[in-house]
Amino acid sequence: MSSKENCLKIAHKIMHPYRRFPLELLSESQAEKELESLSKDLKHHDNLYYQKDMPELSDGDYDSLRHRLLAIEKKFPHLMSKDSPSLKVGAKAADGFEKVTHLSPMLSLDNAFDHGDLEKFQERMNRFLNLPLDGFLEIIAEPKIDGLSCSLIYEKGVLKTASTRGDGYVGEDITANIKTIKSIPQILPDIQKDLNSFEIRGEIYMGKKDFIALNEMRSEKGEQPFANPRNAAAGSVRQLDIAVTASRPLGFFAYGFGNFDSDVIKTHQDRLDLLERWGFYLNPLIKICSSTQKMTAYHADLESKRASLDYDIDGTVFKVNDLDLEKRLGCVSRSPRYAISAKFPPEQGTTTLLDIQIQVGRTGVLTPVAILAPLTVGGVVVSRATLHNKDEIQRKDARIGDQVIVQRAGDVIPQIVRVVNVDRADRSEPYEFPENCPVCHSRAIQKKDAVAVRCLGGLNCSAQSVLRLQHFISKGAFDMDGFGAKHVALFCEKGLIKIPVDIFKLRDLNNTLERPLQKWEGWGQKSADKLFDAIDAKKKISLARFIYALGISQIGQTTAKTLAKVYGRYDNWVDKMMAASQGLLGNQDYQELMEIDGIGQEMAADLINFFQEKRNVEILKGLVGPYVTVENYKAPINFDSPYAGKIIVFTGTLSAMGRGEAKAKAESLGAKVSGSVSKKTDFLIAGTDAGSKERKARDLGVKVLSEKEWILTLLS
Ligand code: IVH
Repeated sequence: MSSKENCLKIAHKIMHPYRRFPLELLSESQAEKELESLSKDLKHHDNLYYQKDMPELSDGDYDSLRHRLLAIEKKFPHLMSKDSPSLKVGAKAADGFEKVTHLSPMLSLDNAFDHGDLEKFQERMNRFLNLPLDGFLEIIAEPKIDGLSCSLIYEKGVLKTASTRGDGYVGEDITANIKTIKSIPQILPDIQKDLNSFEIRGEIYMGKKDFIALNEMRSEKGEQPFANPRNAAAGSVRQLDIAVTASRPLGFFAYGFGNFDSDVIKTHQDRLDLLERWGFYLNPLIKICSSTQKMTAYHADLESKRASLDYDIDGTVFKVNDLDLEKRLGCVSRSPRYAISAKFPPEQGTTTLLDIQIQVGRTGVLTPVAILAPLTVGGVVVSRATLHNKDEIQRKDARIGDQVIVQRAGDVIPQIVRVVNVDRADRSEPYEFPENCPVCHSRAIQKKDAVAVRCLGGLNCSAQSVLRLQHFISKGAFDMDGFGAKHVALFCEKGLIKIPVDIFKLRDLNNTLERPLQKWEGWGQKSADKLFDAIDAKKKISLARFIYALGISQIGQTTAKTLAKVYGRYDNWVDKMMAASQGLLGNQDYQELMEIDGIGQEMAADLINFFQEKRNVEILKGLVGPYVTVENYKAPINFDSPYAGKIIVFTGTLSAMGRGEAKAKAESLGAKVSGSVSKKTDFLIAGTDAGSKERKARDLGVKVLSEKEWILTLLS
């Protein structure tokens, strides 16, 4: 399905014609049809949210679907199906994880929308307990952490099992993943030996700053960013490879118990104190409330703090403090009577998409940014939002001039949820993603199966200069002892270096500065000289290091070495790469490149992309010769080989390896490779269709080997 169709489908689902019908006017047969379609949609969106961690709907849109379903079921209870989504707390456990049955169910909370609902909550509890209706039951108010709920089973004080909520009764076994979270103690101190198994409940979350950093990293790597910290936390925990979980910064706030028997613990506050003594992190904003006014004030105060917290919260949870009362109050269907949550209003708004600008990241990824007509969402003025990548723009079919729904993702980066009125007639043209980098104007391409569009400018692109130059001088490359990554960052920031040759021009440039380096704070003549000497000391470099230093995509140290071995000389390498990238695919030099062991089609394409970019070739010209000498590849001589010190000539067409590789191989065995046969020639290796050289060699009594014989000697 195209992204536009998908987009239309989502919009259509939310605005299904029946769903606009006022409830009072809905006939039974209409209600039946609508319930069926709502159930189907909710199951689909539950699956996206709980199993895939990639929701398509905003929380608000999802809630409106669910509310509509609940309202119809309330009006026509007999139409409610046995597997209605309203009977489920969450979604079924995902495949790939073992199932865990919770010792006590993981319920969800009823919602209060205003002060009146909180008063009703108190009144309802008092009525149930047969207490005076105007009495107040002491409440503990806690931030509702927007993460992934988790149940931990401890046996004799040792963490045995950790699971997700799943459908409230059976969750997924995430024990191995959870053991990588440092804030979850694996052994509880001072535990009575005879204590039964018990469950601790809490919320796994990802901090906002960590979420932003993770998404930046994902974007750079061309991976799909997470929509918000909650999805990032869920996606990080539900990893079959626990090394991935271990690499993600996750936190855990404990907020209670599942089953737990104790005579000493009398209040929820006692529970929290015990959890803290055991080493769990509790949320620092938990507070006791002694009236409904104080409950409302707590909620308002929490909302005002929301944006400044480093973790995401979506409301307040109010819990009765007295555990006897908690027990007596018990639960009704899927939620407890003794607790309620008050959610913050959704942080969404509608505005105009004024423009789409492209930002270029440090590794050359082009990220589209939506420029919006400023609007206030959740008390913060928003004028920019991320559109993540090229595919995302297409998926959303976002066009300049559109009305868009903007949401602050977990209070952090605003994002475009969707376009409003996607099907209206007067929409502008679809957005065309640029084919060139807006910073350096080099081509920008999206590789097959990649999410990111990347600039091919590499060394030319000033957006990428810091990383590129840091790579250029790094250990496996120019290895400038005394001129390191922080120096590169400093000189880039001052605008003194942009491309590699600038590093070698730095001493001369410095002499022309009004305030030269030796006058900068923390620098003196000595340290400045030392720095320039460090650069000068590296004016000669091996071919392998030089190739690696260029930072061509996929060309790491091993491949650079292979290339150096095969092509031997810098000029030869450049000529051959230019030739390979100019002709049609399939030209001889391209074939030779592809024949090299260890070079696949993708790598060859990256090399060709590099050489097709004129500016890269200009950079090489300005650098090698005038400033840097690239030394020929020196094969480590193998004195034991039968070819050590011998002169070899290749002729005819070789089938197992290209000419370049054969030459490099011979040289690595200590041989010298010559182009013509003479009395001095020791071996002639004859491929198919060998002509005059073979005849001459035989006349001169030179030993002639077939390609097969030559290869056999290599293997012995
Ligand atoms: S108490 C009986 N306390 O909110 C329910 N839940 O709908 C007991 N949550 O997914 C839950 N912070 O994981 C409780 N301080 C807190 C919470 C909290 C977040 C989540 C919980 C569940 C949902 C409840």
